[in-house]
Order: sequence, then C-alpha cells, then structure tokens
Amino acid sequence: MPLPADLAIAPSILSADFARLGAQVGEVVAAGARVIHVDVMDGHFVPPITMGPIVVSALRDQTAAAGVLLDVHLMIETPERQVAEFAAAGADHITFHAEATPHIDYTVQAIHEAGATAGVALTPSTPPAALGDVADVIDLALGMSVNPGWGGQAFIPRSAAKLARMRELLPDRVVLEVDGGIHPGTVGAAAAAGATLLVAGSAVFGSGDPGAAFAELAAAARA
Ligand code: DX5
Ligand code: ZN
Repeated sequence: MPLPADLAIAPSILSADFARLGAQVGEVVAAGARVIHVDVMDGHFVPPITMGPIVVSALRDQTAAAGVLLDVHLMIETPERQVAEFAAAGADHITFHAEATPHIDYTVQAIHEAGATAGVALTPSTPPAALGDVADVIDLALGMSVNPGWGGQAFIPRSAAKLARMRELLPDRVVLEVDGGIHPGTVGAAAAAGATLLVAGSAVFGSGDPGAAFAELAAAARA
C-alpha cells in the first residue's frame, strides 16, 4: 500500500471509542479516509501506554479490503527491536522517533526489510537537520506539532515554520506528515507549510459524527 502522494487526512484512532473500534474506522473510511494513524506509546519514551501490534492485526483485514493504509507512529524507545513485529501485524507504514534510538539508519533498513515504508518523526524541540543524513533513504518525515504523548493538545504555532524548513531539506518524493492539534482552524497553516499527510485525532473521533468531521477537515485542508 503506497503512501498517498496528494493531500490526505489521517484520522488517529487514539481518540476513538475502543469498544467500537472497527465501526469507528468504518465511519471515516466511508467518508473517504485512505490512511488510518495508529499511535503506539510505551510508557517510557512518552508516559502513556496505548496499544501494540495486536491492534494493528485486529484492523488489518478491514483496512486492506478497503485499500486503506495503516500508518503506525511508534512513540517507543529502541524501536528497532519492534518494527518487524509491527510490519508482520499489518503495518503498511512505520514511523519512529529520531530521539528514541541512536540507530536511525539501521531502523529504516529494518522497516524496509520487513516490507513497510519508513518514516522518521521529530518532536517539537528537534531541529530539521536531524533528518539530514537519512533524507535520501526515508519515505516520510513527521513533524510533531505538539509534544508526543496525548491527544487534544493545542497546535504549537512555530510548527508551521519548522515544517517548511523540513520540506526544504527533503527530496520531493518524501512525504511530509504533521501530527498534533490539527483541526479546521490549523490545517490550512500546516498544508501551506508543505505538509501533505495531516493527522487528526480529537478533531475527528472527538466529534459525535467522525465521518462528517473528517469530511469537514478534508475540505478545510483543500481551501
Ligand atoms: C500524539 C499522537 C497524535 C494524536 C493527535 O502524541 O501522536 O497522533 O492522536 O491527537 P490530536 O489530533 O487530538 O492532537
Ligand atoms: Zn501520532
């Protein structure tokens, strides 16, 4: 499943109702979502513990049948130890944090060998130059517009300028993703800065009608 080349909203299931996860994913897919974002937290790299490969494998048949990409965002330490398991569970794409391992190049290779596309994420305090020596081997770069760990935080305003700096140093083929605080009032600034894959958790699943919220956000991103 290739990463989308054009502007796309990736609903994050972090804010979904886990008792009805399949149905909630079905609602946003019916509204046009082609990427589902899965936030994995280990209680070490970030304080919360969320979900692991078992949730990826629970969704894989439903998303594969719909032609939807599973975008797994690892907020875990030493991600190189886990990437093969996530790929085997059904992750089409795996992003890990530059701050979480001294072995960025190795981890990218391990993701590729496992058959997934690979991304590197930067927290708000990590400069774009951290991508410099892997820009030619990654498929995606993720600029966090909040500090990782929780949904529902406010978009950090200086993120837009940082996304633009990331876009400048990346080859055109590398997808630029943004994650955190994306809602109809901020999505335009992120898209204008060059991000094309826009993660939204609370703005979609915090709504009483996730499908309608997804469609509203997609329209705002294109405005
Ligand atoms: C935060 C996660 C995000 C989260 C975003 O650490 O990486 O993907 O779901 O939530 P919102 O869209 O509510 O800021
Ligand atoms: Zn995320």
